[in-house]
Amino acid sequence: MNRVHIKTYGCQMNERDSEAVAAMLRARGYRIVGSEDECDVMLLNTCSVRDAAEQKAIGKAGYVSHKKRKNPDFVLGILGCMAQNRGAALLDQLPDVDLIVGTQKFHQVPDYLDNLRAAREAGVPIGETIVDIAEEAGSQNTIKDHLVAEGADLVPQVNAFVSIQQGCNMDCAFCIVPKTRGDERSRPMDDIVAECRSLAARGVKEITLLGQIVTSYGRRDYAHTDGISPFVQLLEKVHAVEGIERIRFTSPHPRGFKDDLAQAYGRLSKLCEYVHLPMQSGSNRILKAMNRPYSRERYKEIVDSLRAVRPDMYFSTDIIVGFPGETDEEFEQTRELFEACNYDMAYIFKYSIRSGTPAADMGDQIPDEVKEHRNAVLLDILRKNSERRNAALLGTVEEVLVEGPDKTGERFTGRTRGNRVCIFDANPRLIGQLVPLKIERASVSTLYGELQLAGV
Ligand code: SAH
Ligand code: F3S
Repeated sequence: MNRVHIKTYGCQMNERDSEAVAAMLRARGYRIVGSEDECDVMLLNTCSVRDAAEQKAIGKAGYVSHKKRKNPDFVLGILGCMAQNRGAALLDQLPDVDLIVGTQKFHQVPDYLDNLRAAREAGVPIGETIVDIAEEAGSQNTIKDHLVAEGADLVPQVNAFVSIQQGCNMDCAFCIVPKTRGDERSRPMDDIVAECRSLAARGVKEITLLGQIVTSYGRRDYAHTDGISPFVQLLEKVHAVEGIERIRFTSPHPRGFKDDLAQAYGRLSKLCEYVHLPMQSGSNRILKAMNRPYSRERYKEIVDSLRAVRPDMYFSTDIIVGFPGETDEEFEQTRELFEACNYDMAYIFKYSIRSGTPAADMGDQIPDEVKEHRNAVLLDILRKNSERRNAALLGTVEEVLVEGPDKTGERFTGRTRGNRVCIFDANPRLIGQLVPLKIERASVSTLYGELQLAGV
């Protein structure tokens, strides 16, 4: 009973947490398997940010527990945000779940599985479900293990997520994250840099620093020096790590996006010219109701200041359409700012009621058809922007980091500094290399081209 399959829902933070759980389990002698049909333990690492994400994981767990009745030794665990959000109440819907582990207890998963395994092997009847959703001081420092590739035929890892912070204290009126992820806590700078160094030693070239609100990284633990915020100090230190060639981060908050960070794009060459800057709404009244402390004017000013430093900057954002009370005029202001910022990528969400958040109790919820329409309007603008940006790249040569085989296994995939996905022919020994790619064809989301290397 040692084959574990982990299925991850939601954001990059969850991907990172799953990877850390996998690394800890492998160190304990478990095997991490890619197929859910061949596992003895299935762990669902869940997301609560929208209702649809929770329903997806509940549906999956229901289906798996049906299979479990045929094999009573099978272990089903629910980890992460939905475990934290719903706790033992999940058992009303999913009585067969063995393990419910919240967001501050990922590091306990190996012990819990060992205990379950020992009980099963000793023939002890299946006991109560283990539920652990307590808070734990210092848990932000436990997400640090990385899964080391096993076997010679596995593709080496070229990019990695590094968690720099857990939790969030911003209390946006719509958001469940402060409940599921707890208080904002930063990891020590030295630990983060040490993790980046060991990743570089393993061949990793690109680091994405992760946190809910990275711009406030270390605000309680480190001072500003010469007007440089702790987050920018961290960027400088990661920039100095030899072997790391590209740095990204997600997500900043407009409130903390000051000039020191904008200027960093001018002096830190490894910082990729791609910024994900959540706008949420382009209406000042809605931003206020959302408890987002910036105005549409300030937001646009940040975008302009970044374009001034890097005219070739790529932008991405998060938008919520249909927040309670959003009028046609207010949506029109979002549409207008969305158009003005000329995004290359965007995540557009229809507002989803999250019980326990302030917005859930606001009157004037917006009908689904209206949300759907507003969503479609923004998606249409995004598609045109993306097409335009990709078309402009035709004939140019872009620096691409070769990540590995593409989905077909016949060609290779990588990304530009602007985070555009590229497909091309290459030699496997180029995996992990930065190579020049001449762009020859473009779809809305993907670039196709030919490497500009002699003898490839
Ligand atoms: N600070 C994190 C936010 C995590 S939630 C980050 O910026 O990555 C990711 C996005 O989900 C938010 O930016 C928001 O646009 C969206 N979101 C959060 N709660 C939502 C809700 N109740 N309904 C719809 N979208 C939501
Ligand atoms: Fe959520 Fe707002 Fe924090 S979107 S994660 S409460 S910055």
